[in-house]
Amino acid sequence: MIEHLRGVFSEKIIKISLQVFKNLGGAPAVILIYIPREPVTHASDDDGRARYHGEFKRYNQLLSASALIQNLLLAAHARGLGTCWMTGPKYMEREINELLDITDQELVSVIPIGFPDQSPPAPPRKEDVVRWIGF
Ligand SMILES: Cc1cc2nc3c(=O)[nH]c(=O)nc-3n(C[C@H](O)[C@H](O)[C@H](O)COP(=O)(O)O)c2cc1C
Repeated sequence: MIEHLRGVFSEKIIKISLQVFKNLGGAPAVILIYIPREPVTHASDDDGRARYHGEFKRYNQLLSASALIQNLLLAAHARGLGTCWMTGPKYMEREINELLDITDQELVSVIPIGFPDQSPPAPPRKEDVVRWIGF
């Protein structure tokens, strides 16, 4: 995935990312979030409708999983635990699923979790990202 990273991040971030991917920051535990795997349906099967329903189902599953993950991260933080929401390991999904003998589920995210050895300051909040509409 190095080529993809180069298009998105600076060399400094890539160096840190490569290190993190080696041992997931030294986390003692890793939580894997999965959703049911939707069967691949082709547009010609059913006027595209079956495919649309499949995609819609997956879309909702992904959003539900994302809400779950956000709650999980907040609950962990409230207990003094550190986490990192990761989708980078998706590049290794086939290998991860083989290792865990998982065939009928799709990997959404990987979350290393443990007591952090540092507490960096919160980044500054972005200003003016909300658009208020008056009536
Ligand atoms: C959907 C999603 C996927 C992410 N995937 C990765 C990843 O694969 N590797 C990584 O180092 N950070 C990843 N991040 C970023 C970290 O989880 C975290 O948001 C980032 O380090 C910023 O942390 P901060 O908001 O505490 O500064 C991802 C974030 C999101 C929301």
